[in-house]
Amino acid sequence: MKNQIHFFIALFFTVLLCSCGKSFKYAAKDNGFYSGMAVTVGDIFNPETIKILQNDCSIIVYENSMKWANLRPNKNFWNWNDIDSLVEFAEKNNMRVKWHTLFWHQQNSPFVSSSWTREQAIQMMNEHIETIMSRYKGKIAEYDVVNEMFNEDGSMRQNIWYKTIGADYIELALKKAHQVDPDAKLLLNEFNNEEKGHPKADAMYNLVKNLKERGIPIDGVGMQLHLDARISYSEDAIRQNIQRYEDLGIAVSFSEVDVRIPIENSKAYESAQENIYLMLYKIASEMPNVTSFITWGISDKHSWVPYTFPGTGNALLYDEDFKPKPVYNEILKELKK
Ligand code: XIL
Repeated sequence: MKNQIHFFIALFFTVLLCSCGKSFKYAAKDNGFYSGMAVTVGDIFNPETIKILQNDCSIIVYENSMKWANLRPNKNFWNWNDIDSLVEFAEKNNMRVKWHTLFWHQQNSPFVSSSWTREQAIQMMNEHIETIMSRYKGKIAEYDVVNEMFNEDGSMRQNIWYKTIGADYIELALKKAHQVDPDAKLLLNEFNNEEKGHPKADAMYNLVKNLKERGIPIDGVGMQLHLDARISYSEDAIRQNIQRYEDLGIAVSFSEVDVRIPIENSKAYESAQENIYLMLYKIASEMPNVTSFITWGISDKHSWVPYTFPGTGNALLYDEDFKPKPVYNEILKELKK
């Protein structure tokens, strides 16, 4: 009897210890989503960042290396090395790899041309999909097939693919991608598309609903969520938006999260930032179709925020010395509840 009591006491403390020591990525998994970060090539070779990635990430994506300009700077040269390294790193560390992005209006190679005919553009698009997705079949789990296809008013963005092919470039890309790797998850990614009622969010929803109803392969929608701690966001409108995707059977990825604060007077906005992060992690934990939560970088040492939104920064969960911020610990505490 006494032995049994000792055994149960020991078991109780072991379980308690395990759950307290649970790393971020496992805590996220327990809440039903993959946790991840966007990285640069250097990050997967630097012991300091590797440690963070191993602790926090079950999904990983390149910030830039998969974009046309980096991957295929000219027509006849494909720069696979960096991507192969990421795939190898992810395999070793049991992470999913996400591709960002197949088609976008920015960071294209100089030979990508809006004077292509429809036929030429479709051929280039197919070649791009075929070359990448057959090479990484079974190794890259999900793809941002098209990125940022809308203007703020909800009209279609006149990117090179729209100009050369027309509005159906999106469904042509999705169909081709599905044909090449039927197991890959296919997403459309946007910014300012998180709150129901915003013209872009509604345009995205209508597009996805239409695609789904016509049997075009589409698995998910990415919400970039590059947010600003000075702005207040409607939790209700975000939840309603995600819920209508759930009703369609569509997954949602929080795909590029950061929450910037003004550098001057930074302290004053820290709690607003914390509230936004906590709201997003709570939504991701509670809503079953939110499948991943990816921050757009590891630490404030390297982030696109300061040079894109001058005067702001401190947007990520780790500081410039790779130390987790108080907000990180708050999130982890919530995830472990
Ligand atoms: C950004 C990168 O972070 C920068 O390093 C690069 O100079 C420009 O692109 N939305 C996207 C991402 O989909 O690809 C962008 O990444 C950030 C906004």
